[in-house]
Amino acid sequence: WPVLAPDIDAINRLKRERNAVVLAHNYQTPGIYHGIADVVGDSLALARRASESDADVIVMCGVHFMAETAKLLNPGKTVLIPDADAGCSLASSITAADVRLLRERYPGAPVVSYVNTSAEVKAESDICCTSGNAVEIVESLGCDRVIFLPDEYLAKWVAGQTDVEIVSWAGHCEVHERFAGRDIHELRDSYPGLVVLAHPECPPDVLAEADFTGSTAAMAGYVDREKPRRVVMVTECSMSDNVAAAHPDVEFVRPCNLCPHMKRITLPKIRRLLERMEPRVEIDAGVAERARGAVERMLAVK
Ligand code: 13P
Ligand code: SF4
Repeated sequence: WPVLAPDIDAINRLKRERNAVVLAHNYQTPGIYHGIADVVGDSLALARRASESDADVIVMCGVHFMAETAKLLNPGKTVLIPDADAGCSLASSITAADVRLLRERYPGAPVVSYVNTSAEVKAESDICCTSGNAVEIVESLGCDRVIFLPDEYLAKWVAGQTDVEIVSWAGHCEVHERFAGRDIHELRDSYPGLVVLAHPECPPDVLAEADFTGSTAAMAGYVDREKPRRVVMVTECSMSDNVAAAHPDVEFVRPCNLCPHMKRITLPKIRRLLERMEPRVEIDAGVAERARGAVERMLAVK
């Protein structure tokens, strides 16, 4: 990316000066993913690696809930996000008050919150999960019924793999909900032999047509392992761009939807961030203490 090289060079120099580590989600653009990230991965890997870092500063190239999770696990460190308005339709679909009402309606049922939630919602939850460990987390609780929020489609996908009764919420990812089962039929007709990988935030009719369903890291792992001749990743656009770089022999069919929140993160903003050392992520101490418990309980399970 020759046009981006000055920003990439400046960011890599600033990283060293600040003793900063850059964590980047799989949906970041290739310049960020391949040019400046120290760690790339799905939400689970980013949370885990944030808890292991010995850098003074953590730069989260992802959306706000990911930066909050990093701050929860590193209360003493400076956690920066290049654009504090990088939100998530799932995180904004539910409030802490909603969780308290759900608890009243389903007494005794533990609350499992997807990490795509605010720190306030995590603080009302018993444990967090990601798409990479959701089934294991639900089963780890040893209960007949759990409240699983906020992603209705992820909840359905989990319910299909466990005997635990799942009470869900009507949150959706604005990126994945736009895919439909008929899109997959059309792709299979147009691209014989196509292997279809889908993220579990997709609607059930999409998942019913997929050859494999998993987190962004699990989808990348599938391509590394199976080396399909032709593949489609039914998810955000940058995912295929990033994985394709390491697989020149795999044909990536690329209908995809952009996440406008992930795309708020750009190299010029990251450069400015490291020059100014803001915006920083701060969380109210009382909220943080309770939210941290939910994230740490997740990391202790898987
Ligand atoms: P992963 O944890 O699978 O990376 O998903 C995060 C996300 O925001 C998907 O839309
Ligand atoms: Fe949220 Fe969907 Fe964007 Fe992921 S892709 S950050 S779930 S809106």
